[in-house]
Amino acid sequence: RPLVIAVDGPSGSGKSSVSREVARRLGLEYLDTGAMYRAATWSVLEAGVDLADQAAVAQAVRDLDLRMGTDPAAPGVHVGSTDVAGPIRETRISSQVSAVATNLEVRAELKRRQRELIEGARDGVRSGVVAEGRDITTVVAPDADVRILLTASEEARLARRARELHGAAEAHHLEATRDQVLRRDRDDATVSSFHVAADGVLQLDSSELDFEQTVQAVLQAIAA
Ligand code: CDP
Repeated sequence: RPLVIAVDGPSGSGKSSVSREVARRLGLEYLDTGAMYRAATWSVLEAGVDLADQAAVAQAVRDLDLRMGTDPAAPGVHVGSTDVAGPIRETRISSQVSAVATNLEVRAELKRRQRELIEGARDGVRSGVVAEGRDITTVVAPDADVRILLTASEEARLARRARELHGAAEAHHLEATRDQVLRRDRDDATVSSFHVAADGVLQLDSSELDFEQTVQAVLQAIAA
């Protein structure tokens, strides 16, 4: 029977890179739900919609022609025929995505699409899916076969994020990302609870683990 693995966690917990690698090794599909919120934000900004206009933002997201690639070797993100995989990682998107992701109508729409993608994976060519985000274990796929909350200390998360963004964890870069990451987590936490594991969700702290050790810990949890 096809496997559904749900992984949640805050920014810098390693959930995206670890989930993608686990999917690759197990031959499963990979769904990056954060990329969906990022693509929605990119599109809303591109269309010049006022982020403060909740109804207009929600309508724009319902109309969004979003195509998510779920091959872990090359998980593409397209809006229409535009490849947005690069642009959605820009700082201007990171700093505005929470404003879109805290819109409850947007969440309802993207949740619906995420469930469809996960259901599709159940009877697709691959034997299941690893879906990751903030509310996968609790809202999108509470019935997943394996549910994991990947956490890490604030220090470890900020250092990883700074390395990702700048290639080196220099002190001033840490300072520059700290405010943005912490504010985003605070804003996101108003709509999803990803700091504490829900009932039946395995909490895995990766603060002291490197990438491979974290992948192994997740693989063990799946095998258990
Ligand atoms: O960059 P990072 O890994 O921290 O975040 P991401 O997974 O790319 O998600 C970007 C943003 O999308 C988050 O900050 C949330 O605002 C939103 N998001 C969400 O609300 N629910 C999800 N299931 C996934 C992401």
